[in-house]
Amino acid sequence: MFDKYNRRINYLRISVTDRCNLRCVYCMPAEGIQLMQHDEILSFDEILEVVNAAVEQGIDKIRITGGEPLVRRGIVDLVRMIGQIKGVKDFGMTTNGIYLDKFAKPLFDAGLQRINVSLDTMNPEKYKALTRLGDINMVLNGIDAAKKAGLDPIKINCVIKESSKEKDAQEVSEFCIKNDLKIRFIREMDLEKGQFWKVQGGEGGSCQICNRLRLTSNGKIKPCLFSDLEYDVRELGVKQALNLALGNKPKSGTQSLINKFSNIGG
Ligand code: 5AD
Ligand code: SF4
Repeated sequence: MFDKYNRRINYLRISVTDRCNLRCVYCMPAEGIQLMQHDEILSFDEILEVVNAAVEQGIDKIRITGGEPLVRRGIVDLVRMIGQIKGVKDFGMTTNGIYLDKFAKPLFDAGLQRINVSLDTMNPEKYKALTRLGDINMVLNGIDAAKKAGLDPIKINCVIKESSKEKDAQEVSEFCIKNDLKIRFIREMDLEKGQFWKVQGGEGGSCQICNRLRLTSNGKIKPCLFSDLEYDVRELGVKQALNLALGNKPKSGTQSLINKFSNIGG
């Protein structure tokens, strides 16, 4: 499918939950997060209906995000069902890696191809402080399990303050070189002020070549991360919501006031 600026839209990012087992300082407040009601969250059947309709219209690349996708119950079953849809050629997930040790092999066996893991520092204490509760060793074991399982490529998402020359980023970078992982640097965005940056080394962030739509965990199709436009699949029906998102995809985004990353998975 093409939008009105003649961009070919072939990529759908699906947030399967707004919940997360971490509380990264730049993403979530320490407490008092407004979580969605369980009945707001799309069922697997509803997600599959969106994927099927999207694939019919030319989507061939899918990424599962969260919150943290591995905290959604039955995630491997969902991955298997999406993996079986003919027309899905590229199938990835973005995770914090905490549960990856256990899930890497089942996910790969269910048809997941690639994985992005968030890691901003190699320092265990800093990691714990930054995520407000994470154990870096679980992530490192998870990355190892992902390699052994055959997930490829494995990319590391590394959030930086200003530059990839910062010490933490350099250490993550060295770790990636040693372990044959790809790295993407993401400048920390101020979600309160609505400040967003382009991703270095990523394919996203460039409006002229943007190929994506997003599905939030409560069933809104968003044509642009940096815009408040969204179309509810339950209200409008899947086809109509997809068509409206496509037809109204902005030429370029400005800022989004209503979204938290934890709802849309970046
Ligand atoms: N700025 C930049 N990246 C962020 N992420 C979450 N919040 C922010 C923010 N404020 C990133 C995480 C993860 C991805 C899902 O989104 O680091 O890699
Ligand atoms: Fe969870 Fe990712 Fe947000 Fe960290 S950045 S709190 S891992 S959703």
